[in-house]
Amino acid sequence: MNSKWIVILTIFIAVGVAWSSTIIAAEQNKGPADISLYGGSKGEVPFPHRLHQDNLGDCKACHDVFPQKKGSIEAMKTEGKLKKKHVMNKLCTKCHRQMKKAGEKSGPTTCTKCHSG
Ligand code: HEC
Ligand code: HEC
Ligand code: HEC
Repeated sequence: MNSKWIVILTIFIAVGVAWSSTIIAAEQNKGPADISLYGGSKGEVPFPHRLHQDNLGDCKACHDVFPQKKGSIEAMKTEGKLKKKHVMNKLCTKCHRQMKKAGEKSGPTTCTKCHSG
């Protein structure tokens, strides 16, 4: 193969990779912008999903604990795979407290600021 063909082939591959990764990004299901979570006796917890996606960038911060599926937290709690308040204490409140301590933008840490009931 002469060098001209190598250049053309390289361009083809580069364009192909860029094109397919654009499609993957566009097809990633980000779920709803806002979600209301079951909060037991304390009442519903409005959760700004998109705000967290944009701020944290990393889906795994939460979705390593429960899957990207509506109602998955409640389903796992019912199946005994997740303790009640685990998400609240080990994800939501924990992260908010840590970020506040670090002097960064953060979220609520008191009951009534999260639970609307
Ligand atoms: C700060 C926590 C958090 C982060 C970060 C996060 N999510 Fe979620 N996501 C949730 C919660 C909470 C639910 C609702 C689970 C439930 O209903 O039990 C959810 C649900 C979903 C759903 C299901 C929606 C539906 O209606 O079925 C999808 C899809 C999803 N997330 C995609 C993503 C993607 C993609 C990212 C990263 C770009 C992401 N999430 C980042 C917390 C988060
Ligand atoms: C950062 C938001 C946030 C704060 C602050 C918060 N909660 Fe929650 N709470 C949640 C979320 C999300 C859930 C549902 C997921 C879970 O059970 O971990 C929940 C669930 C609960 C449940 C229901 C558990 C069940 O399955 O029956 C109770 C009760 C509760 N919280 C009480 C409290 C009390 C009391 C406080 C204050 C000391 C508090 N919460 C502070 C977000 C919060
Ligand atoms: C890994 C870190 C992290 C986790 C986990 C997390 N949050 Fe947050 N949260 C943030 C940050 C950062 C902000 C501040 C975003 C901003 O103001 O731009 C925030 C802000 C918020 C706000 C305030 C939004 C506003 O408009 O001021 C609410 C409500 C909230 N979070 C609820 C929750 C709930 C409920 C959970 C658990 C399901 C959760 N967060 C999990 C980092 C986190």
